[in-house]
Amino acid sequence: MIVNRNLIGPTLSKCTFDNFEILSDSHRKALAACRSVLSGSGGVVLTGPVGRGKTHLLVALAYEFNREMDYSLPDDEDYVLVNDPGNLVVFWPHIELSSSLKGGFDDGSYTVHMEDCKLANLLILDELMSEGTAKDGGISPFVKEFTEEIIEYRYNQGRAIAVSSNLGFAKMKDTYSPRIVSRLADMCGDIVLLDGDEDYRLKKHRERDGKERS
Ligand SMILES: Nc1ncnc2c1ncn2[C@@H]1O[C@H](COP(=O)(O)OP(=O)(O)OP(=O)(O)O)[C@@H](O)[C@H]1O
Ligand SMILES: [Mg+2]
Repeated sequence: MIVNRNLIGPTLSKCTFDNFEILSDSHRKALAACRSVLSGSGGVVLTGPVGRGKTHLLVALAYEFNREMDYSLPDDEDYVLVNDPGNLVVFWPHIELSSSLKGGFDDGSYTVHMEDCKLANLLILDELMSEGTAKDGGISPFVKEFTEEIIEYRYNQGRAIAVSSNLGFAKMKDTYSPRIVSRLADMCGDIVLLDGDEDYRLKKHRERDGKERS
């Protein structure tokens, strides 16, 4: 089961590995890195400018991972999908996770979300917040704390994680503690840069209108 499919939304829910166009070498590498999560690599970190396909690949990974997990379950054990957090793919835009956790102290949803993030077979955090996210120039101690708690737990348990970020590991250490970045690097290997030569959204717009590239 994919938790938060509603946050993926109709535009992105059509994203698959098959409809991801390979337009550059970086696309090929990123696709391979995401596929490797299916075959048991510890995870992937994607970085790159706007509209290069980071979220596309993470969503495709969520669906594919979920499909493979479901296949391995016996027909009569479907209930396990909803009762056992170990059979979840948890997808969160990082900023949405932060809001939900912040608002979840009174109704107990803080604990539920944290458990899902820790115990899911695959956790996907889209757009890991960085020092440039908040207007005041930094993530809050709250964001830093819950994010590090989750990553540390998953590292210790050997559970896969897939992340997109606009930071490389070196810059990430200005926002998150070096010990957490070190663990992320150990799980995910090198950060995969999705550069491509153009924002895919703008490319589509240009092609639709028959416009020259500006
Ligand atoms: N190589 C590609 N092949 C097919 N579709 C693509 C490709 N790259 C991007 N897209 C499509 O372009 C749109 C933007 O991609 P996506 O949302 O993944 O970008 P992003 O890198 O996450 O950008 P942002 O930093 O703005 O979040 C999506 O609809 C996605 O499906
Ligand atoms: Mg994105």
